[in-house]
Amino acid sequence: MATTRTFSIIKPDATRRNITGAVVKMLEEAGLRVVASKRIHMTREQAEGFYAVHRERSFFGELVDFMISGPVVVQVLEGEDAMQRNRDIMGATNPANAAPGTIRKELAESIEANTVHGSDSDENAAIEIAYFFKPEEIVG
Ligand code: PPS
Repeated sequence: MATTRTFSIIKPDATRRNITGAVVKMLEEAGLRVVASKRIHMTREQAEGFYAVHRERSFFGELVDFMISGPVVVQVLEGEDAMQRNRDIMGATNPANAAPGTIRKELAESIEANTVHGSDSDENAAIEIAYFFKPEEIVG
């Protein structure tokens, strides 16, 4: 299996509760390496652009409001099959449905305040990484 990269966001519910370190620890223990990281407070325009694919969904406004409600940590993760590995350790979107030992089961508050975002394909990972990082900001 090839070493690949994926994109991750530690969401405002986690920065608010000061548990970003706990999230990173679970990512690292799952075999992922943080090769780029920055703490930012997204603008509404940035969040709307990032989630443009969900624009027609009923929860779009709430999702954007939540994502700009506080700082987030955007990250590039590297590892063997990083996208799927990250999705596995994140767990299901709704923490109520997430498996024990996953980030969302152990740390998330609700389907909205679900602690982490992770790219859902290698193609989207490349797009999402480029949305927030310049190539020289990623140090493998
Ligand atoms: S996923 O992870 O893309 O497969 O999940 P999906 O169900 O398609 O959800 C897409 C993103 O929308 C968020 N979401 C919600 N936010 C607010 N309210 C409700 N009800 C809700 N349902 C889903 C979900 O956390 C996903 O955000 P990201 O940042 O992509 O994980």
